[in-house]
Amino acid sequence: MSTPGSLRLSPAVAEFATDVLEGLAREHKAIPSKYFYDERGSALFDEITELAEYYPTRTERSILEVDARAMAARLGPGCVLVEYGSGSSVKTRLLLDALESPAAYVPIDVSEEHLLRAAAGIAGDYPGLRVEPVVGDFMQPIELPSSLPATARRIAYFPGSTIGNFVPGEARRLLAGMASLAGADGGALIGVDLEKPLSVLEPAYNDARGVTAAFNLNVLRRINEELDGDFDLESFEHLAFYSEVDHRIEMHLVSTVAQEVTVAGSTFHFTAGETIHTEHSHKYTRARFEELARLGGLTIVEGWTDPREWFGVFYLEPASA
Ligand code: AVJ
Repeated sequence: MSTPGSLRLSPAVAEFATDVLEGLAREHKAIPSKYFYDERGSALFDEITELAEYYPTRTERSILEVDARAMAARLGPGCVLVEYGSGSSVKTRLLLDALESPAAYVPIDVSEEHLLRAAAGIAGDYPGLRVEPVVGDFMQPIELPSSLPATARRIAYFPGSTIGNFVPGEARRLLAGMASLAGADGGALIGVDLEKPLSVLEPAYNDARGVTAAFNLNVLRRINEELDGDFDLESFEHLAFYSEVDHRIEMHLVSTVAQEVTVAGSTFHFTAGETIHTEHSHKYTRARFEELARLGGLTIVEGWTDPREWFGVFYLEPASA
């Protein structure tokens, strides 16, 4: 028998195996999008952020370029900035540049190697800054290093519209976790991709050079490599479309033929045209994000956007504050 439990796997690989086997056994096959981000997937994502069609990264950056000072004023002097997800980006630096004597920068990420590299990069460029990386899944309750100054304001920073990759129930739980991290005196700064015409949304996930397709297909290559899978990458195709009902881009991998695929000893049947759902990327209006935040116990205090209103950065505080 070849259940993931019977193999000698690291906890991370065992969890990957469990999630993939469970996802492929569903009526509507699915693989969680967090598994895109191995070394190659992260490199492909970096390439996506530079594509002409992919507007979110450069739009969010442009907002920080204009408004980082106003954001810093809201965050206040001497805050502890806790970043959800990797912290190597230009955006974090723009914010750190604007902050008045931050007490600490605490990047959280599951990928230890990536996290430590990014943290070392920031520490090198900000000599006076205390950098305390935490290895962990930000969907789980976060334990901050006990060495942090007890009275400093805690700010949850969640850029990149990664919030959009969670279905509303998960997103609400995540926001509630940020509210509890912030406590009564803290806050949260969250980047959110906004609803916009289909003519802009769909090309952003269907770029002409096929980088997004390679990013999507990379998860199958990763399964082949790490979970002893035999996906034929030639017989799956990238599909991305906007669902007006769910307000989200959905990415799928379409099996172009009827076929069987084996992963970690389990076999799965695909009909021709059947898909594996690999990612949601929700797009919000300010009103819908405000409602989601409310359910998570947070209130929008101030928001910043670009002239076309394609992306929003919101500063929130716990509702009772
Ligand atoms: C940065 C994770 C939010 O959903 O737009 C890019 C990931 N997926 N192209 C997004 C992604 C396809 C991206 N996030």
